[in-house]
Amino acid sequence: MELSRKIMSIRPSATLAVTAKAKDLKAAGKDVIAFAAGEPDFDTPENIRQAGIDAINSGFTRYTAAPGIIELRKAICDKLKNDNNMEYDPSQIIVCNGAKHALANTFMAILNDGDEVIIPAPFWVSYSAMVEIAGGKPVIVYTKAENNFMLSKEDLEGAYTDKTKAIVLVSPSNPTGMIASRENLQAIADFAVEKDLLVIADEIYEKLIYNKNKKHISIGSLNKEIFDRTITINGVSKSYAMTGWRIGYVAAPPAVAKCINVIQSHMASNANAIAQKAALEAITGPQDSVELMRQQFEKRCDYIFEREEEIPYISALKPEGAFYLFVDISGTCGKKYKGTEIKNAADFATLLLDNKLTAVVPCADFGMENYIRLSYAISLDDIKKGMDRLAEFVSELE
Ligand SMILES: Cc1ncc(COP(=O)(O)O)c(C=O)c1O
Repeated sequence: MELSRKIMSIRPSATLAVTAKAKDLKAAGKDVIAFAAGEPDFDTPENIRQAGIDAINSGFTRYTAAPGIIELRKAICDKLKNDNNMEYDPSQIIVCNGAKHALANTFMAILNDGDEVIIPAPFWVSYSAMVEIAGGKPVIVYTKAENNFMLSKEDLEGAYTDKTKAIVLVSPSNPTGMIASRENLQAIADFAVEKDLLVIADEIYEKLIYNKNKKHISIGSLNKEIFDRTITINGVSKSYAMTGWRIGYVAAPPAVAKCINVIQSHMASNANAIAQKAALEAITGPQDSVELMRQQFEKRCDYIFEREEEIPYISALKPEGAFYLFVDISGTCGKKYKGTEIKNAADFATLLLDNKLTAVVPCADFGMENYIRLSYAISLDDIKKGMDRLAEFVSELE
């Protein structure tokens, strides 16, 4: 029987594949260091866990309104106003099963068959898959390291066609760790307004920033025209170490929010009720744990970057946010490890995992053949061990 042609042509997530292989090796008793996972290694803060327990014990275990409980949507509006300088009405907020689900809902809501979505590469693998599943066409635009991997006006002009519907923007970025400056954002905003496009702004890493000279700016806060065409995506997964709770949200122009609500009500009913209560505590409760986790990530960021800088043939920009180091390994291409030639990042990652039990994500699926991504959402001890192994591996190349 022929299954969905659209889905059969989409590959499963490479990030999850590497994590799975590393987990299998770990389960087999091997001492694997995995720089692969895209989730904080911290426990969800105690007050948030308690809110979840309280929700269960008080019987808050039934369906909720499809877009989420009103207290949470109001709290999200307050947060977006106070932190991001954007004023939304609770009817414009839909709480979803993670930011990923918020994005998937969004693409389904805005795309008709063949509509094009500009996605800057390197890109988080799920954007293009989600666009395709929704019937759209991802248009991948390759950004440059010298431009901090941000989209320029020229990039946008080169990618634009009369089918272009939206531009994806992620800052701080997965996988590059770079943050869009006000100028970057203004260029995208001006282009979107001029060409009548939507902007999907993924702000999931907004609280994890280490570059003291940069702060997170929401593109929707620049002016009224861009606000009216911005769909802001955020959630609690990364900032509050809540990846397993599955709460994200979308804040959208009223017509888009209505469409998303229809999709959500038919396909998911609502996000997990208990997790919505926990997310309410995360957003409205004490925020000191967010800063404590950020400080840990900052220490790790400084350390991993310093170590990477000492290793020959590879290079990276210092991450400004999120928890990824994006490493150019093209200087190792053509070299051999114990007789096997490295042709690209996939070869590099396979040899590194097989020989040094260190897992990194090869970034071909992120649109960059010669880059690997190292997540530093692991302990400093493990980072040290992993970087020792990486340095040893590179020193053994011939
Ligand atoms: C850029 C980006 N957006 C969204 C998500 C999804 O977040 P969630 O776990 O809330 O679905 C991730 C997770 O890796 C991500 O890296």
